[in-house]
Amino acid sequence: MASLRVRKAPRISAEIRVPGDKSISHRAVMLASLSNGTCVLRGFLPGEDCLATVNALRALGVDIEQPEPTTLIVRGARRKLAPAGKPIDCGNSGTTMRLLAGLLAGQEFTTTLVGDPSLSRRPMRRVIEPLTLMGGRLLAHGEKDAPPLEIVGQPLRGTEYRLPIASAQIKSCVLLAGLFAEGRTTVIESAPSRDHTERLLDYFLVPLQREMVDVDGKRESRLTIEGGAMPESRDFNIPGDISGAAFWLAAAAAQPGAHLLVKDVGLNDTRTGILSVLLRMGARVREVVESIDQIERIGSIEIAGGELRGTVIEGGEIPNVIDELPIIAVLGALAEGETIIRDAAELRVKETDRLAALAANLRAMGGEVEEQPDGLVIQGGRPLKGATLPSFGDHRIAMAFAIAGLFASGETVIEDTDCIATSYPGFEETLQRVLELSVEGEAPTPVISTAPPT
Ligand code: S3P
Repeated sequence: MASLRVRKAPRISAEIRVPGDKSISHRAVMLASLSNGTCVLRGFLPGEDCLATVNALRALGVDIEQPEPTTLIVRGARRKLAPAGKPIDCGNSGTTMRLLAGLLAGQEFTTTLVGDPSLSRRPMRRVIEPLTLMGGRLLAHGEKDAPPLEIVGQPLRGTEYRLPIASAQIKSCVLLAGLFAEGRTTVIESAPSRDHTERLLDYFLVPLQREMVDVDGKRESRLTIEGGAMPESRDFNIPGDISGAAFWLAAAAAQPGAHLLVKDVGLNDTRTGILSVLLRMGARVREVVESIDQIERIGSIEIAGGELRGTVIEGGEIPNVIDELPIIAVLGALAEGETIIRDAAELRVKETDRLAALAANLRAMGGEVEEQPDGLVIQGGRPLKGATLPSFGDHRIAMAFAIAGLFASGETVIEDTDCIATSYPGFEETLQRVLELSVEGEAPTPVISTAPPT
């Protein structure tokens, strides 16, 4: 089992790229697989989660070549998937399982989706419910509606579904099922979540209607898809993942005098909440949009570190920073004053119970944290000390505490770090280079590249 050892960081001064966006990689492969021709996807994230999606679609009869780690040639199956013949392993990836559930509910065959021990504990009722309303038949064979998930393909009918939780996975699951349903499927969202599925449906020329309506003074978005459309094959470039960039942005933000430039990263405004949080905490952040390349905003983020202060993260901001909350909690411990995270009970059903994991590891480093049912209250500014910490098998917990270790006295050991490969292959190499290339005192301009060679 791999582990990661980290010491206090010298001053960071670097220019980096980050691997492709995880959410966009999953969706691009799925829509390209359903399309009517060949699609070349560049900038694909070759992390285990997205590879689980590729392997699932291959098992369902789609021809996908990977001439290099970040390039896929997908020969679209014209909506015609084939039975896999055996259970499909979604590994650690909730996105793979929940989005595929939507894609498979309306097929003419049965598929069983299985996952690793972490995914096998995650709730699937949230996708079973809307798909059942559409006429789907799904059986969760684990405890409390957990996987294995058996999807007995059925003819689906369109429905109107109000999301009970702000979740891009549920929204995307229902929209993908809607593509195979009779009639119109409408998803109503009252708190915006990441909108990559909608943007990619547009890009692949699948008609999608969007409406913003006022209901009792609250804005709701209504997304309607008509069953039967064929995605039009097109090439697509996937931007860098802002959720991967967030670890380095946080490291630079908390170090007075640090400077970091992240290039070619996705700046979709359903994902840039981390930049607002960093600004509120006192970092200087500049976002430069360079292109709206094929539907997603792409650009650079420049950040200068400073003395951070605590902030409150709650309500509608939570879905926008849902994957960044672990590193934000670490920043809370490094900042002066109190940082409050609330309305984030969803963190309890991620790859691990992230609220419990964050509280345990921050305390082990000397941080002062109060765990609440839906969040954390962190008293910042206590000196952190190195410790041996479990990753809880969760990639984002492992990476967040690797960054915490850069600010702690002594050595921090993160145990069981194989999980990092689910979302960020190359993270450890970049960390190594940050440590080697950044020099205390002077500020050279080392270049750290996490992008696989092109
Ligand atoms: C994702 C949505 C989020 C996020 C996950 C990826 C997606 O999950 O935490 O890492 O790609 O749709 P929820 O939809 O469950 O909030």
